[in-house]
Amino acid sequence: MSQDKVIIFDTTLRDGEQSPGASMNLAEKLEVGMALRDLGVDIIEAGFPIASPGDFEAVREIARQIHGPTICGLARCNNPDIDRAWEALKDNPKPRIHVFLATSAIHREFKLRMAKEEIIRRAVEGIKRAKSYLNDVEFSPEDAARTELDFLTEVVEKAIEAGATTINIPDTVGYAMPEQYAKVIAHLKKNVRGIDKAILSVHCHDDLGLAVANSLAAVLEGARQIECTINGIGERAGNCALEEVVMAIKTRNDYFKLGTNINTKKIFSTSKLVSHVTGIQVQRNKAIVGQNAFAHEAGIHQDGMLKERSTYEIMNPLDIGLAQTDLVLGKHSGRHALKQRVQELGYHLDEAQFQRVFEDFKTLADRKKVIYDADIEALAEAKIHTDPTVWTLEAVTCNAGTGTIPSAVVALWHKDGHIVRDACIGDGPVDAVFKVISKLTGVNVTLKDYRLRNVTVGEDAQGEAQIEALFEGKVLNGRAVSTDVIEASAVAFLQVINRVIMRQVQGERIKPTENPPPN
Ligand code: KIV
Ligand code: ZN
Repeated sequence: MSQDKVIIFDTTLRDGEQSPGASMNLAEKLEVGMALRDLGVDIIEAGFPIASPGDFEAVREIARQIHGPTICGLARCNNPDIDRAWEALKDNPKPRIHVFLATSAIHREFKLRMAKEEIIRRAVEGIKRAKSYLNDVEFSPEDAARTELDFLTEVVEKAIEAGATTINIPDTVGYAMPEQYAKVIAHLKKNVRGIDKAILSVHCHDDLGLAVANSLAAVLEGARQIECTINGIGERAGNCALEEVVMAIKTRNDYFKLGTNINTKKIFSTSKLVSHVTGIQVQRNKAIVGQNAFAHEAGIHQDGMLKERSTYEIMNPLDIGLAQTDLVLGKHSGRHALKQRVQELGYHLDEAQFQRVFEDFKTLADRKKVIYDADIEALAEAKIHTDPTVWTLEAVTCNAGTGTIPSAVVALWHKDGHIVRDACIGDGPVDAVFKVISKLTGVNVTLKDYRLRNVTVGEDAQGEAQIEALFEGKVLNGRAVSTDVIEASAVAFLQVINRVIMRQVQGERIKPTENPPPN
């Protein structure tokens, strides 16, 4: 008997990209989009086309190049937003426009300053406008979880009458409790006339750590679309994590009796890819994809595992595409083995990029006895992060020690072909390097966090530098790996500088939560 399916709507490229420091460039968005297609998501929310020319272009290119899943664009309930979304989506065979308008008393009174009747009128007009372009229209009453139930029921009914084919119920601020949220879904199922003409969807934020629990509770009451993101990235504390909700449905099939179209063997590589491109690392103990998710430390657990895996393991790591070992390759490993591992780690490299990774791998294997996953990731990452580079590190030298004034000399190469050089003193060698880079590029950021760690073990281990910086109130991340930690620090800092320059080129973006302009 075929099982009822839950539709997986991925919003990593829209809500996920709204999280501080997670912005991606066009090439990165396309790469993530392709990985999501291969993962088997049903719908990709590719962005908010009116937000900026860069967002529009990204949605349009994803719509043009990625076929298979439905491609969705977000719009507020006004004509310019909806027209722009259609313009971006129209080249895709399965487009969807997602319109939204806040309905809760707090949003009506303080954000929108609109009466209930006005909200309904605008929602209906927005849905009809979207319907004039295509059939597949989703409507979200923003902050639905805090909306009066009778008003929510009325809005949803009118939205379905106007032609919405999916009704999404966002817990925008992550306030709901699982039982309470499930009751909202049950109430709508029971009381909205025509509810069977639309799919009920859930969109939960994780402010109280309940996004996955709330989504699953709603599914038990008949919701059949879950909006989620890879690694749970998203506004503030993030969204419902795709990997967690999908693996809960799979692992507890006995309980949910539901399925998804996700190829779970691609979960680990997609998670890796998203953390590579956003610079947002997954916490060690994160469910499903964290480094410790399948590690058994306690002796009693290890003993049990050796006797019978199911004593302490409810999922097989192979089901999420996690290879059994971390110690992978060495000097004598060939192209094929490296290619397979690179793919397992989440990279979609073209032949030319792979060839350069293979050459660097051979050079590194001459210097290092064993090559770990983190080494391979560092090699692959250096090859995919080539797109937004305005400035590249040409050379760096520093001088530091007891009784000396720390100083650094840096040479940078500009993509136009010229090289600039300068020197500075600083509070330490790294500070001196950052000062020269700021001086040479003319970009000043406020350093919020700087971390160094060894990515692998042993005397020949590579060092990883991670930087979080603030520029005009926005968080930007940089990350680089090298056997020389000063070089890694300089490259990570330059990544931040290049991101600032790209933001300046692309212009400021509108946030979807801003007030809609009148039609
Ligand atoms: O959290 C939210 O309410 C949203 C809407 C735009 C669906 O992201
Ligand atoms: Zn959201």
